[in-house]
Amino acid sequence: MKNLLSISDLDRADLEGILDLAASFAEVQSRDIPKVPALRGKTVVLAFFEDSTRTRTSFDLAARRLSADVVNFSVASSATRKGESLRDTVETISAMGVDAIVVRHGSSGAPHRIARWTDAAVVNAGDGWHQHPTQALLDCFTICNKLGGLDGRKVAICGDIQHSRVARSNVEAFTKLGAEVVLIGPRTMLPPSLDGWPVKVEPDLDAVLPDIDVAYFLRIQQERLSEGLFPSIREYRVRYGLTTERAARLRPDALVMHPGPMNRGVEIDPEVAADPRAVVLEQVAAGVPVRMAVLYGLVGPGRFDPQDTEPQRQGVA
Ligand code: NCD
Repeated sequence: MKNLLSISDLDRADLEGILDLAASFAEVQSRDIPKVPALRGKTVVLAFFEDSTRTRTSFDLAARRLSADVVNFSVASSATRKGESLRDTVETISAMGVDAIVVRHGSSGAPHRIARWTDAAVVNAGDGWHQHPTQALLDCFTICNKLGGLDGRKVAICGDIQHSRVARSNVEAFTKLGAEVVLIGPRTMLPPSLDGWPVKVEPDLDAVLPDIDVAYFLRIQQERLSEGLFPSIREYRVRYGLTTERAARLRPDALVMHPGPMNRGVEIDPEVAADPRAVVLEQVAAGVPVRMAVLYGLVGPGRFDPQDTEPQRQGVA
């Protein structure tokens, strides 16, 4: 595989292969020096045309922990602001000889276009409402670690599904790994047609709470409310928020997940975010080994040998 653009390009065996590789990298992370020489001499460019905290930082750490050189391309200080086209920007970066371009872009399909303009591996770090494949992989990794797998598990995804690339990627990844997915949200925040989505829709959050293994909540952007998709934050919380009362009706072994950034007091109460069943920080932590696995799989030399600890012998930091 040359690029990671969408979960649609992966089958169950591909997903499991990446998750297994991520488990080896999670072991590397627990070492005193959490670094291996696997991508020494390779260059990874982080091209983020949209804001990001956790995705960007964890790709950056992942590449460094594989000993790659990392270049952060910042739109705010780039020639994009002087009117340079996306294609010219990509061709300019590629001409310098880079091995991977990790791209986040506000427009759906931008990473696919970029992949046509460069020989470097392209990793989609979130494009418009379309896909966020590494988020889905890190969520699967977290669920597998906590629950032993997704086969037969019931996952509810609640919130603004229509505008969420996380929901699109996660529905595909969870169901490919054997889970049942139910979507919950206001009609105005569900896609107009769910043809081809392997999901059920449930209008009432309270009806599903006692049955689910994973309660996955999405951010409600304030602008969605001003667009008239829901009357007010208070009403949204009453119908679709994971309040403390609702969390009390989840099973004791259920997981509460959120991709971040969280709007505490809107889709999730602050007390629930601090509940031991909430694994939001475990999700963030999983991002590093999962992204190491993706970068290694795309530009690495082949099979990863966890015993290859050359940097430790040489004391390379
Ligand atoms: C999400 C994103 O940017 O797609 N965040 C993330 O990457 N963890 C979700 C969001 O912004 O709501």
